[in-house]
Amino acid sequence: MSGDSHLPKALQGLRIPAVASPLFIISVPALVIAQCKAGIIGSFPALNAREGEGEHPLLDTWLTHIREELDRHNQENPDRPAAPFAVNQIVHRSNTRLERDIELCHKHKVPVWITSLGARVEVNQAAHDCGGIALHDIINNKFAKKAIEKGADGLIAVAAGAGGHAGPQSPLALISEIREWFDGPLLLSGSIGTGASLLAAQAMGADLGYIGSPFIATEEANAVQGYKDMIVDSGAEDIVYSSLFTGVSGNYLKGSVTNAGMDPDNLPEGDVKTMDFGGDREKPKAWKTIWGSGQGIGAVKEVTKTADLVDRLEREYIAAWDRLQARMS
Ligand SMILES: Cc1cc2nc3c(=O)[nH]c(=O)nc-3n(C[C@H](O)[C@H](O)[C@H](O)COP(=O)(O)O)c2cc1C
Repeated sequence: MSGDSHLPKALQGLRIPAVASPLFIISVPALVIAQCKAGIIGSFPALNAREGEGEHPLLDTWLTHIREELDRHNQENPDRPAAPFAVNQIVHRSNTRLERDIELCHKHKVPVWITSLGARVEVNQAAHDCGGIALHDIINNKFAKKAIEKGADGLIAVAAGAGGHAGPQSPLALISEIREWFDGPLLLSGSIGTGASLLAAQAMGADLGYIGSPFIATEEANAVQGYKDMIVDSGAEDIVYSSLFTGVSGNYLKGSVTNAGMDPDNLPEGDVKTMDFGGDREKPKAWKTIWGSGQGIGAVKEVTKTADLVDRLEREYIAAWDRLQARMS
């Protein structure tokens, strides 16, 4: 991608301006490797790598495997090298593994660190110390300022309609408020399901799109077939915004709520105190039987290979740009 020289090196040279966002349970090495090979930044939550009691840390094994696969790809394909990968840390007091996971990411020199739920100086320092950059996700301008004060290099604006824990604000409002004072790397998260939406994110003022839900319906995603099929069959009106399942408001597939015996249009409020990223991370029900998804899945018409999804996004991105230029000339 040209026109990205203002960004940190790790975010330059992507095929399209996109980061595949970390998805609890779903993002495993096969998906991350496919995303990076397709030319966009792939990512996973460190907490997805979960070893049994007394076993070698699975995160260490995953990071070695991802590095080796991407190095091999780069040697064999010097003309189209893989994009860098990112690891997501949940910076919440209940994440008892945080310190160990930071050490492992530091050891493996993870190039892009994504932090969620809490901005901490020492996590950003660890990223910088091994040559990486830190991006922090936020849902409003106040948290955005705090994150930059604590040393994050860039921001991920999680707007209304995002999968998982989403913010309530319009992307138009959130991006323009942040751009009043911040000219560093800014990513937009929420409902980006087409290449045209990716271009719209850039037009708004974001540098890159942060795309999650469409990757659930890929062959490499660690999700059951019923979940992938429901993504394909659903659209924006099939998403419910609720705090019931984790204590924090998020977007979920109504069909999965119905299948669990609840009425998605009459859900009680959740309790933020129930949030737990310790041993079992949240109630298993929250992500295993209640399926997270953002609103931008109307464009997902089939389960495909990750490479085919990125091909589609690129075709649409170029077509949207051509259309816009024709209208403006
Ligand atoms: C099933 C699911 C699981 C998620 N898990 C995480 C997670 O573990 N850590 C995180 O930072 N964000 C997580 N997210 C949020 C995404 O990283 C991202 O903000 C969101 O998917 C973007 O919106 P979109 O799905 O509409 O593209 C999750 C989202 C979904 C749909």
